Amino acid sequence: MKLIRPSAAHKAQALAFRQEFYDHGEQVINGSELLDQTDDYDAWLESVTKNTSPETVNPDWVVTDTFFAADDTGTIVGIIDLRHTLNDFLRDFGNCGYSVRPTARRKGYATEMLRQLCGIARDAGLTELHLSVERSNTPSVKTIVRNGGVLERSFVFEGEPADIYRIAL
Ligand SMILES: CC(C)(COP(=O)(O)OP(=O)(O)OC[C@H]1O[C@@H](n2cnc3c(N)ncnc32)[C@H](O)[C@@H]1OP(=O)(O)O)[C@@H](O)C(=O)NCCC(=O)NCCS
Repeated sequence: MKLIRPSAAHKAQALAFRQEFYDHGEQVINGSELLDQTDDYDAWLESVTKNTSPETVNPDWVVTDTFFAADDTGTIVGIIDLRHTLNDFLRDFGNCGYSVRPTARRKGYATEMLRQLCGIARDAGLTELHLSVERSNTPSVKTIVRNGGVLERSFVFEGEPADIYRIAL
C-alpha cells in the first residue's frame, strides 16, 4: 500500500470509492476534505491541490495534504489528510483524519496509512501530530496507539466522550 496524491486520472475510481461508503450507510468520509459532500470531482481536486500550498490555500483553511491509499493493484482503499497547523476550529479535530473503504477494513490499511503519513509529516518539518477520536471508535483508537499515540486530553464531542492523542514524530 502506498499514499498517492489525487489526480484527474483517479476520477472514476474516486467516485466509486465514495459511493461504497454511501452504499454501506456511511455519509461521512473522515479525512476526505469534503469529497463526501461534492459531486464535482474536478472542483474537489482543484481545491485539495490548492490547499497543499501556503500561496494558494483557501484563506478559511490551513495548509493540508490529502492522499489516497492505493493497494498493490492501484485500487484506492483509503483516504487520509494531514493538516499542517491547528487553529481554534481544528483544535478538537487534530492534524489528521482517515477512512478505509468498508470492504477493505481489518486488513491493516489504516495502521499503515497513518504510519506512512507520520513519515510525510516528519519530512514536512512537523514534530508532533494531534489526533482526535471518539472513545467508542475502537479500530481508530487502535490505529493511533499502534502508531505511538499517547493520550493527551479528553473532551466531549456531540455528547460522546472523545480523546486527543499525541504522536511524537
Ligand atoms: C477506523 C478505520 C480507518 C480503521 O481502518 P482499518 O484499515 O480497518 O484498521 P486496521 O486494519 O489498521 O486495524 C487497526 C486495529 O483496529 C482493529 N480493528 C479493526 N476493526 C475493528 C473493529 N470493527 N472492532 C474492533 N477492532 C477493530 C484491528 O484489529 C487492529 O487492531 P490490532 O492491532 O489489535 O489487530 C476504519 O474502520 C474506518 O474507515 N472507519 C470509518 C472512519 C473513521 O472512523 N475514521 C477515523 C476517525 S478518527
